[in-house]
Amino acid sequence: MDSDRNQIPEDRKNPQWADFLSWFNEYYTQGEHGVIYSDLRSPDILIKVVNVDITDGWSNADQADFFEDNWKRNVEGLVDVYSFARSPVVSAITNKLKGCVLTTSADYQSVMNVFELGDKDELAMWAMEKADYVGLTHPNMSKKEMVNAVAEAAYNIQIQTGYGIFDLKEQNYGFREDGSAFIFDFNYQDDGFTLEEYREKVRNGVTRRFINPTRQG
Ligand SMILES: Nc1ncnc2c1ncn2[C@@H]1O[C@H](COP(=O)(O)OP(=O)(O)OP(=O)(O)O)[C@@H](O)[C@H]1O
Ligand SMILES: [Mg+2]
Repeated sequence: MDSDRNQIPEDRKNPQWADFLSWFNEYYTQGEHGVIYSDLRSPDILIKVVNVDITDGWSNADQADFFEDNWKRNVEGLVDVYSFARSPVVSAITNKLKGCVLTTSADYQSVMNVFELGDKDELAMWAMEKADYVGLTHPNMSKKEMVNAVAEAAYNIQIQTGYGIFDLKEQNYGFREDGSAFIFDFNYQDDGFTLEEYREKVRNGVTRRFINPTRQG
């Protein structure tokens, strides 16, 4: 694992969306709001792409703003982000995003339904570390240790950014092999929470139907 991690790019100069064209590998999975791709450079990197102009709420726009503001700051508890860029909806990028779905067995239309691409929309994309374990699934930690680690990750993000973090369901955070927890998907608000409130949120976010995609094929 450590040797793989050495391949992770060290410089965080401002990339352009065109740089991302040479990084997209294959469709990896999707959430309700974003699509995740693997990265040709390393199996330890994932790229998330969101349409920031989706009108059913501003969470994509807010999340993109958050990552744009914080990706170079090494915020402890936040997923490590290596590159961030925005792009207009132009064929150079959409052909790539579509092509990387078509080469997989994924349901093309369901991916396009997440993007909801409109001509004048803006996309945001960021390359980030891939969690070794998604959710409360670290093999060498107790449930209590994992809940604490995730709560502390959220609390640290709050201390360093000033925002309260929520939507702490298992699909939205993960662990590194060394047991450190980080959050890669969340909503945020101006009001903060106590560490105990974060523990409660993590416990409440546990669902029995949770499926860990890192365990698939
Ligand atoms: N950094 C990461 N490491 C490992 N897996 C990840 C990472 N980022 C995303 N994933 C996987 O992709 C899924 C979808 O990503 P994410 O939660 O960011 O999308 P979303 O559309 O914002 O989700 P939601 O449906 O919660 O709004 C995650 O639940 C997780 O399984
Ligand atoms: Mg999510």
